[in-house]
Amino acid sequence: MTDKLKQLSPAILTLDDKNYSLPTLIGIEGEKAIDISKLRSQSSYVTLDEGYGNTASCESAITYIDGEKGILRYRGYPIEELAENSRFVEVAYLLLNGELPNSRQLLEFSTNLNESSIIPEDMHHFFNGFPRGSHPMGILATMVASLSTFYPIPDRLDTVTEQQIVINLISQVRTIAAFSYKKSIGEPLVYPSYKLKYVRNFLNMMFSSPVRDYQLDEDIVRAIDMFLILHADHEQNCSTSSVRTAGSSMANVYAVASAGISALWGPRHGGANQQVIQMLEQIHADGGDGTEFINQAKDKNSPSRLMGFGHRVYKNFDPRAMVLKKQCDKLFAKAGVSDPLFDIARKLEEIALKDDYFISRKLYPNVDFYSGLILRAAGIPTNMYTVLFAIGRMPGWLAHWREMLHSEQVIITRPRQIYVGEPLRHYQNIEQRP
Ligand code: CMC
Repeated sequence: MTDKLKQLSPAILTLDDKNYSLPTLIGIEGEKAIDISKLRSQSSYVTLDEGYGNTASCESAITYIDGEKGILRYRGYPIEELAENSRFVEVAYLLLNGELPNSRQLLEFSTNLNESSIIPEDMHHFFNGFPRGSHPMGILATMVASLSTFYPIPDRLDTVTEQQIVINLISQVRTIAAFSYKKSIGEPLVYPSYKLKYVRNFLNMMFSSPVRDYQLDEDIVRAIDMFLILHADHEQNCSTSSVRTAGSSMANVYAVASAGISALWGPRHGGANQQVIQMLEQIHADGGDGTEFINQAKDKNSPSRLMGFGHRVYKNFDPRAMVLKKQCDKLFAKAGVSDPLFDIARKLEEIALKDDYFISRKLYPNVDFYSGLILRAAGIPTNMYTVLFAIGRMPGWLAHWREMLHSEQVIITRPRQIYVGEPLRHYQNIEQRP
């Protein structure tokens, strides 16, 4: 426990007529917690918290969220201010180092990212092995894990190697992402360019070809940059917890990052942005205004949910969705840019926000509800949306990995369970079995 947590008076828990004194703590934003880490050794009781909705798994100084008030801050800075004024590379530096960079630090960080953007040439063969139509998230997870074979990590990690790992992953996840797309459409790979900055470089690798330059649209570059900032961290979400869990075994960090990518892929997490657009396309194709879809999402006998709605933590509004909605408004207000799916999304939101089902369950649009529309406007294919989320989240994953590595004591993640299977029974030879 760090000295950042203040102690309050202990909680007394009575179990089997015995009193246990449990330390209680308060974080710097007033979050209160009961420390139950010694409870089992003292009382033989474990705590049960499926999905960890009530469990703080670590102390962290990276991101603060107040879901009730719709607050999200990276290293103390409100997300709205960062989205408005900052750039993704600067935010990545902030998450990793705790402070905004000065001009020299930013230049050095950007230069290092640029100079590490080429993936090992031998990795190009791997891309040829994937079947056509492979989901780019599957390719991304595999390729990022395979970086571990090219960059072996010494048992004792020194500062320079640690810094280079972080740079490699933030830079090369973008190169691998663009290469997976190019492979999936059967086009030649476009190498990263030292002349281009982070987002421009990515868009250029995605959309230019050896025979055709890509005309960068400033508004699109800005919108993608903002998308990446908004996705850069979100404290102990499913993928970040996976990164901390895998990292706690001291596994190779490239494999650890790949675990984060795999966890992100699911439709209840990062995969939701792809699903939102598929849902909007379906509603558009059916010609409705979404009422029918909303009825299905409310029906407990139907597996469908209103994608892009609801959040484990935000119970009022998701500040990232607010920023993205404004960005969509700006983008689509531009002459010549329109998207019928944006109109459907706005209508769906309007209907859902008046509907008692969504109101009573505190279900509001989350970051994924509008993010896909921005990516669509940028021409990013739907199956790459979660890949973009992964590029954005990489600095956050690495900041958590680093924070864990430098904590007082790295404790391997190993929750308990409550066994509900068969009681003791004895082996039967096959002839005796029913
Ligand atoms: N549509 C319809 N009903 C919903 C939805 C939805 N999108 N989300 C939650 N509910 C209902 C759910 O059926 C349950 O109802 P009841 O109490 O009657 O059983 C209630 O609301 C609580 O839901 P929950 O699944 O227990 O809530 P959770 O906190 O475990 O899940 C969630 C959060 C994000 C997984 C869920 O809201 C969801 O599946 N949303 C759609 C997928 C989505 O948009 N995911 C992106 C999350 S934001 C990006 C990220 O950080 O990954």
